[in-house]
Amino acid sequence: MDYKKYILPHIWNLKPYSSARDEFKGSDGIFLDANENPIGSGLEENYNRYPDPLQWQIKGQLAQIKKCSEGEIFIGNGSDEAIDLLIRMTCTSDSSSIIICPPTYGMYEVSASINNVPLTKVNLTPEYQLNIDSILKAINSSTRLIFICSPNNPTGNLMNRQDIYKILDSFKTGFIVIDEAYIDFSEEPSFIQELNKFPQLIVLQTLSKAYGLASLRLGMAFANPTIIKLLNKIKPPYNIGGATQRLVQKALSDSHFVTESVKQLKVNKQQLIADLKHINGVSTIFHSDANFILVKFIRAQELFDYLISKKIIARNRSNVELCNDSIRITIGLESENKELIQQINIFYTKNNV
Ligand SMILES: Cc1ncc(COP(=O)(O)O)c(C=O)c1O
Repeated sequence: MDYKKYILPHIWNLKPYSSARDEFKGSDGIFLDANENPIGSGLEENYNRYPDPLQWQIKGQLAQIKKCSEGEIFIGNGSDEAIDLLIRMTCTSDSSSIIICPPTYGMYEVSASINNVPLTKVNLTPEYQLNIDSILKAINSSTRLIFICSPNNPTGNLMNRQDIYKILDSFKTGFIVIDEAYIDFSEEPSFIQELNKFPQLIVLQTLSKAYGLASLRLGMAFANPTIIKLLNKIKPPYNIGGATQRLVQKALSDSHFVTESVKQLKVNKQQLIADLKHINGVSTIFHSDANFILVKFIRAQELFDYLISKKIIARNRSNVELCNDSIRITIGLESENKELIQQINIFYTKNNV
């Protein structure tokens, strides 16, 4: 793939900010280059030095976990940062466009709007799968990015793998972004292992879900090293803070927590589904490969408001196209799910459903 053709020229030619520590690699020395405070931070741990702009230690760990090379990894301040940078790298408002497949994660549209880039929406099928023929028809010479979320938010299901291959086989004049934020909860292998076959493929993952590190803000893009170098050029130099880097290194050194919590959340999900099946007001429980379920309820809006009044906060999707009367419920602790079920039962009993 001739990447230069599909990257905005001013980005391709950009001379990036050179950070103070670019000329010296090492941790020992007298550092008088970055106008830091040499005395410390006044905290238990010191954060007075700028963090590694390219987060090499974390990339070393991730390369092993994700079975790819360090050069194929970009680290962002959440995968939301990667979404925004990918748009800024490839799209202008007058000559580019993006395809998304609603109902899907809201930030693709928000980031496109922030960057004033036209968006084509090709809705999922009623079964929440990719509408392949319509996607292929919607692709034109201005298409630079296609976002595919799998498992999809808010529907929870994986996209059919063969359908994704069809798009990868037919669209080569821009980039296909597969957002795998919830992949750790599914049984499906990641598309990271397909990077060698598809030069236009970009995979997004995050530590915000299965890894339990949403507050630290760390997301990843996996792609050909040419793409990764461009993302690194346009990101703010120190986009991942030192506290996040330290804590993430620690978290990644032990996979026990992730394995165990994914296992536990799957058990909790099955229990929650079993309990919901006994409730008359539940119309449909959609199949989920993620750590949440989309559920269609009778009188969904009223139920949602009632739950809020009981301080149980779910995500009301009942006004989203193809999700009418549906609420997205994150799988909680066993006790939290029990309380939710109890309150849903009280609501329907009161309303004679
Ligand atoms: C599909 C999807 N992608 C990306 C994100 C953002 O993740 P991060 O916390 O890494 O920005 C989310 C968050 O909910 C999501 O649902």
